[in-house]
Amino acid sequence: FIPPSATGGGAGTTAKDELGKDIIASDFLGEHKPGDRALAQGLKGDPTYVIVTEEEEIASYGLNAVCTHLGCVVPWNESEGKFICPCHGSQYDATGKVVRGPAPLSLALVNVKVNEDEKILFTPWKDTDFRTNKEPWWT
Ligand code: FES
Repeated sequence: FIPPSATGGGAGTTAKDELGKDIIASDFLGEHKPGDRALAQGLKGDPTYVIVTEEEEIASYGLNAVCTHLGCVVPWNESEGKFICPCHGSQYDATGKVVRGPAPLSLALVNVKVNEDEKILFTPWKDTDFRTNKEPWWT
């Protein structure tokens, strides 16, 4: 047994698919095109978007898909280039920044890294929110 803290990175968790299997970064990139935002199971099991950059890499941040209004999972609308909540119509831009209420806050960020095993690792985002230049509301 290796306690999570022994990995050096603090609390982190590998991105998992709908079957609970670790997602392999190269497979993921093979299945998704630049600009895609695809759901994985993230920290605490929360549905979390993994983003493919225009450079065909996995973005260094992911987005918690739980709407900050009342907690629906917010789908990515590719043609609009936004996340649009089906429950009460809140909208978030491509970086998860809230652009229309009733949601009061932007989608929470998580750090994303590809580790040496080609797995996608989520860790909590504790830095300034780059979309608002504010302290993260979710910590
Ligand atoms: Fe998303 Fe209400 S839960 S808009």
